[in-house]
Amino acid sequence: MIVCRTKDELRTHVKQFRRDRQTVGFVPTMGYLHEGHASLLREAKANNDIAVLSIFVNPMQFGPNEDLDRYPRDEERDLALANECGIDIVFLPAVDEMYPKRPLTSVTVSGVTSRLCGASRPGHFDGVGLVVSKLFHLVQPDRAYFGMKDAQQVAVIQQMVEDLDFDLEIVPCPTVREPDGLALSSRNVYLSADHRQQAVVLSQALRMANDWLKEPDITAGALLDKAVKHIEGAKDADIDYVELLQFPSLEPLDPTVKMGKLDSTVIMAMAVKFGSTRLIDNSLYQPS
Ligand code: PAJ
Repeated sequence: MIVCRTKDELRTHVKQFRRDRQTVGFVPTMGYLHEGHASLLREAKANNDIAVLSIFVNPMQFGPNEDLDRYPRDEERDLALANECGIDIVFLPAVDEMYPKRPLTSVTVSGVTSRLCGASRPGHFDGVGLVVSKLFHLVQPDRAYFGMKDAQQVAVIQQMVEDLDFDLEIVPCPTVREPDGLALSSRNVYLSADHRQQAVVLSQALRMANDWLKEPDITAGALLDKAVKHIEGAKDADIDYVELLQFPSLEPLDPTVKMGKLDSTVIMAMAVKFGSTRLIDNSLYQPS
């Protein structure tokens, strides 16, 4: 496994892969890797000749009052896990390497960013769009792997790839969960033991929605109310949003529409704070 810390080193290897006509699978991350990330790494390695991982805590996607300074890091453990997953190249740039000067170009995807995390984290997806565009140019992957844990990020990147003619395939991968249902996240380490227990309400609400949907006359509004009530059952849950939208357009649903009458995929997406830790989760529901 080769570790590159500069763009030039990375470019040299990428040129060689291109010359050798090897396919490249790419997994961008911010590190502090867990089994969710590992599932993407294994998928990238299984379906491409070369698997590239980037680890970069991108300051441009954090708001001024967010957790950039305390974002967890463990380079040694990340490299060991990457090696175990068969990764060929790890790109691990410093902030000055990625952004030697303040960038004057922005990448804004509209529409799909107007709700959910796009609304509650202003500028977040501009930062994601910028860094992912830079990484796509540097790595030139054939396929890039993203977790559905961040479903809005998948929708944003897919839109950006289409709009800007990036010549690659986005491969969405399923959310990996703890045995009790909590979606794995680098931020779970911030949770106190009590909050960790309470946090299970997110995935429970998403799972229970599957049963509530069996009631053919249930409306979008009623389904959402039930989910909100369940989450509010956790005493410290501070809801940022719980929404039911069309996917991948992320257009709103009429709350009076009967869920049994839907003919397209919908997403229930939520962001809930426990203390200072903000957790997100979502699930897709197909028309019956
Ligand atoms: P990060 O939060 O490190 O996540 C990297 C990738 O791992 C994302 O595609 C994310 O959806 C996926 N992932 C995280 N938790 C997962 C889980 N429990 N199951 C499956 N996949 C999971 O997302 C980012 O970094 C950044 O925004 C990035 C795209 C790297 C741009 O900076």
